[in-house]
Amino acid sequence: MTTPALGTSVPSADDDRATWWRSAVTYQLYIRSFADGDGDGLGDVAGIRSRLPYLASLGVDAIWINPWYPSPQADGGYDVSDYRTLDPVFGDLAAGQALIDDAHRLGLRVILDVVPNHTSDEHPWFQAALAGGPDAPERSRYIFRPGRGTDGSLPPNDWRSVFGGSAWQRVTEPDGTPGEWYLHLFDVKQPDLDWSSPEVRAEFRDVLRFWFDRGADGFRIDVAHGLVKDPALPDLGLDTEVILSQPDRADHPHWDRPGVHEIWREWRAVADEYDPPRTFVAEAWVASSDRLADYLRPDELHSAFDFELVRAPWHARELRRTISTSLAAHDTVGAPVTWVLSNHDITRHVTRYGRAIRAGEPPLHHEEVSGAPGDDPLHGGGGPVDVALGTRRARAALLMELALPGAVYLFQGEELGLPEVEDLPEDVLQDPVWERSGHTQRGRDGCRVPIPWTRSGPSLGFGSGPGWLPQPPDWSELSAEAQEADRSSMLWLYREALQLRRELPMLGDSTAPMRWVDSGNDVVAFTRGDSFTCIVNAGPSPVALPRGHVVLASGPVDGELPPDTAAWVLTSG
Ligand code: NOJ
Repeated sequence: MTTPALGTSVPSADDDRATWWRSAVTYQLYIRSFADGDGDGLGDVAGIRSRLPYLASLGVDAIWINPWYPSPQADGGYDVSDYRTLDPVFGDLAAGQALIDDAHRLGLRVILDVVPNHTSDEHPWFQAALAGGPDAPERSRYIFRPGRGTDGSLPPNDWRSVFGGSAWQRVTEPDGTPGEWYLHLFDVKQPDLDWSSPEVRAEFRDVLRFWFDRGADGFRIDVAHGLVKDPALPDLGLDTEVILSQPDRADHPHWDRPGVHEIWREWRAVADEYDPPRTFVAEAWVASSDRLADYLRPDELHSAFDFELVRAPWHARELRRTISTSLAAHDTVGAPVTWVLSNHDITRHVTRYGRAIRAGEPPLHHEEVSGAPGDDPLHGGGGPVDVALGTRRARAALLMELALPGAVYLFQGEELGLPEVEDLPEDVLQDPVWERSGHTQRGRDGCRVPIPWTRSGPSLGFGSGPGWLPQPPDWSELSAEAQEADRSSMLWLYREALQLRRELPMLGDSTAPMRWVDSGNDVVAFTRGDSFTCIVNAGPSPVALPRGHVVLASGPVDGELPPDTAAWVLTSG
C-alpha cells in the first residue's frame, strides 16, 4: 500500500550554481578537533587543508567550518572578538582564503559560521561599552539594564543562561562602583547584542559581505531563533527551569520571536546581491516543524537544520511520524528539509542509538542544546550504551537519511562511527556548561574529541603531539587508516552511500516523489520515484526485502533484512 507523495512541491533544480544547497551533503568541521597542522594540540586551517582530499573522496558536496575568528575560546569560538579575520591559533586571513580556494578547486562549497546573537566580552564594542559608563552610546549595542532592588543588586529579570545560572551579569563601572547588568543568554563572556540597534544590523550585513566577497558560499547562522528580545524584558515566571524547556510557550520573551524574520529578510537580500546567490542554513531550536518553516519562507533563509530526527527515538512509528511532519511543514514553503543526526552540541548518535529505546515517549521540545537534563533525547539519556547496537543503527540511519528528499549535514567523525566519549577526566573538560552547571552537567566535550586519523601516534594522527582532549585508546581501530583497509567499515559505507546518492537521479532534492510503503509496524520503508526503495528494519525480527536488486545495505542481508539494518533496493521498472 502506498500513501500520497511527500516532498514534491519543490521546484526542480535547473541551476545547480544557485540551488546546489537543496540536495547537498555538507560535512561539518569542528575546527578545533579535525586536524592539527602545527602540533599545538588544536586543529587548524593547515590541518583542514591537508585533509581536503579525504573529504572530496568521501563524496561530500560542501564543508561547514565552525567559527574560526579571533576569540578567547570561552565557548569553542562562539565568543567572537573580531568577525573579519581568523584566530591566530587557526591561521590567518590568507590561510583562510587559501582554504576556501583549495576547497573550490576540489569542487567543495564552503559554509562559514556567523554568530550574531552575541559577541565576546573582549570584542572592542563591548570593551567600549564597559569603558564608557552607563550613559555611553556604545551600551545601546548590547542589552544593559539597571538592577532591581533599592541598590540595584538584583538582576533585571529572572532569565536563565542556557549554560546554567542567571542570564545577567553586573558590571563594575569605570568609577569603581557596582553598576548596570548586561544580558548573556549563554556564557558570561558572551554578551547579547541588541538587534533593535541599526548599527548592529549594519555591522552584520557588512560582515556577511566581507566573507561573501572572499568566496564563502554561505553561512550557518548561530542561534537564529534568539536575536530579538521582548523590549519589556518580562520575567519568565517562577518555574524558570520548566519554562526554558517549553519554547512552544506563546510569546516567549527571547526565543523565536516574530521580529527575527525581518532580520532574515534583510540577510536574504544581501545573499541575493551575489552571483551565484549565497546561501544560509539556520540553527533555530523552535517548538515545531511549522515554526521552523517560517524561517524558510521564500524571502527569508534558504535552509535550517531539522533537529526532529535527533529528537526521535529509534522506533519505526516515531521515525515515520517525524519524517512526515518535517516534510509536510517544509513543503508549505517550498524548502527542502535539512536532515541532521549529530553535531558538536549533541551526544553522538552511535551512543544515542546504543541506549535502550524508550518507545512511545513523546519527543521532548527543547530549545537549548546544552543545559539539557540527563534524560534528554538530544543527549541520549543516561544508562549503559551498547556501542555495537548503536553502530548498527547508525549505519541503517545513514541510508535512511541519505535517501530522504532534501539536504544532509554530517558531523566530522560520524563517518568513522565515533561514539560519544562519556568518561573524559573532569580536569580536561572545557565546555562552559561544566562550570556554570556547578559540575552537574559535563557538557558537550564528549562529541568534540579530536579525530583519529591513524592507528598510532601521540594523538592518532590528529597532530604531532597530544590533542586538546584525549582520545580513548581503542579509537586506534576506528581511525581512518584502520577503516580504509576494511571494506565493511563505516567509512566505506559512507563513501559508497554518498557515491550512489550522486549517481541515483531520484535521490536528494529531486522531483522523484517519496511515498511511504506499508511494511509493518517495525519498518520504515519508502520509495523515491518508480524504481527505488529504502527499507529500514527498526524492529527485533528479520523482515522481507522488497523485490529487486539490493544496491547497498547497512549490514549483511541474506534474503531477509535483519534487525537494525537498512537497504536500498532498485527495481528495473
Ligand atoms: C549554538 C552553538 O552550536 C553552540 O556550540 C554554542 O555554544 C551556542 N550556539 C552559543 O553560541
